[in-house]
Amino acid sequence: MRLPDPVVPDQPWTALAPMQDVTTLKFIQLLGKYGAPDLLFTEYFRVHAHSSLEQHIVASICENNTGRPIFAQLIGESLYDLKRTVSAIEEQQLPIAGIDLNMGCPAPKVYKKNVGGGLLRDPSRIDRVLGCLRDSIKGRFTVKMRIGFEDDRNFETILGLIEKHSVDLLSLHARTVKEAYRSEVHYEYIRRAREVLNCPVFANGNITSVKKGQQVIRQTGANGLMIGRSCIRNPWIFRQHHEHFNKETTFRPRFADVRRYIEDLYEATKLPDRKGIYQINHLKKFLNFIGLGVDHDGQFLHDMRRVKSKEELDNVCNRHLIEGNRAEQYFPDEPIKGLISRPNCETPAGCAL
Ligand SMILES: Cc1cc2nc3c(=O)[nH]c(=O)nc-3n(C[C@H](O)[C@H](O)[C@H](O)COP(=O)(O)O)c2cc1C
Repeated sequence: MRLPDPVVPDQPWTALAPMQDVTTLKFIQLLGKYGAPDLLFTEYFRVHAHSSLEQHIVASICENNTGRPIFAQLIGESLYDLKRTVSAIEEQQLPIAGIDLNMGCPAPKVYKKNVGGGLLRDPSRIDRVLGCLRDSIKGRFTVKMRIGFEDDRNFETILGLIEKHSVDLLSLHARTVKEAYRSEVHYEYIRRAREVLNCPVFANGNITSVKKGQQVIRQTGANGLMIGRSCIRNPWIFRQHHEHFNKETTFRPRFADVRRYIEDLYEATKLPDRKGIYQINHLKKFLNFIGLGVDHDGQFLHDMRRVKSKEELDNVCNRHLIEGNRAEQYFPDEPIKGLISRPNCETPAGCAL
């Protein structure tokens, strides 16, 4: 089955990586403003004996106004409940491009239940889960996974299962579950998946810029680039990829643009039950990534992490992003080496960013 056409035909697709607590409806709508990717993926619907479709994720599908197709991601392993969830999605006629299975989540409280990345330990279970989903899903069925749990011992077998069950797209985050988010990315596994599989393969993991994306495409032959954390730091990244593919001048944001983006994020993170310091603290999870592009000493990160009100935040942002000559300077394409998005806390579960 063919995927929806990319924005630029005959060029690699761009895709938004699913990110729990980040790729909400509001964030997706923001990406629409800054330059949406070709394909979007939702946060995961949890699938278990008592699960029902989480309404905020349903909203991110139904009110996606980017004009780009969106895939609904599921996490779970109970065949009965996976089938039940697929039926619920189909009965509600959610406007999705397909259904994606999460086989990569590295949070211990997730993998200990043998779901997400935990599934990668058990190829025979994967065989049953993929078979069940392939049978129940009428449209496109896609998989997002890592290269293994603690090593690559099951990688070739799992590729065989992806092929056996006619998966329509594989997004490969080329790290093991145990490597979480910070190790080197082993792009050679993406090349291998391209050699073995008939379906398209998207490269995922540290696609930090257009230059890095081009390098990864050359190295892996991937059909698309799936981008997560770097689009929090730089929401223009999909637009930049499309402009590059189109041989157009690539937009380069200045610090004044980043200042306006933070204001947009402030609006996007407003919720009736998330006010004052709670909203500021939630916003800091995004600012942790933006801060990777601001200054070499990490002074913005240091100051931002200590603010307690919108007024204090405005002062910090203006000091670091606007005053002096700063507003007119270009925001760097790549994150600054050596800075860390958030000490001791990079896994999604328990700590969204
Ligand atoms: C905060 C956060 C939440 C995530 N949530 C999900 C998720 O719900 N489903 C999923 O398949 N991957 C999830 N991931 C993994 C990303 O989709 C992606 O595979 C990973 O961040 C590597 O890509 P990147 O280097 O471009 O960020 C999450 C990652 C982060 C940082």
